[in-house]
Amino acid sequence: MPLPIRISPSILSADFGKLAEEVGAIGSADYVHVDVMDGHFVPNLTIGPLVVEAVKRATKLPLDVHLMIEDADRWVAAYAKAGADIIGVHVEGNPHIHRTLGQIKELGKKASVVLNPGTPVEAIEWVLGDVSQVLVMSVNPGFGGQRFIGTTLPKIAQLRRMISERGLAVEIEVDGGIKLDNIDAVVRAGANVLVSGSGIFGTGNYANTIAEMRRRGEAARG
Ligand code: DX5
Ligand code: ZN
Repeated sequence: MPLPIRISPSILSADFGKLAEEVGAIGSADYVHVDVMDGHFVPNLTIGPLVVEAVKRATKLPLDVHLMIEDADRWVAAYAKAGADIIGVHVEGNPHIHRTLGQIKELGKKASVVLNPGTPVEAIEWVLGDVSQVLVMSVNPGFGGQRFIGTTLPKIAQLRRMISERGLAVEIEVDGGIKLDNIDAVVRAGANVLVSGSGIFGTGNYANTIAEMRRRGEAARG
């Protein structure tokens, strides 16, 4: 069975003045992608556990929480308690990544390990058996609305081979610059979880965009 195509809208591009309404309007997606930034690991500062709690109250969808923070060990329990279902931690900035991922699983949450565009897939080779998902960044993290970095495609393909060779069912999520016109390429390369911020919240009808992204993803997967 091929892995399901999942659409994970990033609320970074939502209108925070009416966040509950915005989250309600993406109810046909599979996850809600929540970008947490600490002003150190990335040059931007965003969402604390209190806001995650508010998002949790506004949706039944699983929360896909992307921690762009240093020393994530100090924060994973707080985000788990706030309602995160999947917790992503960067291999850069978290030197004891095996322990950090273990902590997420002990909290009963799905562990996701994240790679910046410049980080080779070998950096996570020995934790592939410890995660449900690998998040491949296709922009340098910190901001929405950036351009997709093309070298992500061979990188996803290499990672998909690495996962298959080990007989694992790890999902590959891709994040940054994902729009209707590059869904085909990222899914063909081997990704199945598609994050999109401006590609969804920048359009007039979120539900229609989500449906079209899903249709293109499923067509590309075959
Ligand atoms: C970037 C974030 C992304 C961002 C994607 O640091 O991790 O999730 O919201 O935004 P778009 O889809 O607009 O590139
Ligand atoms: Zn993200």
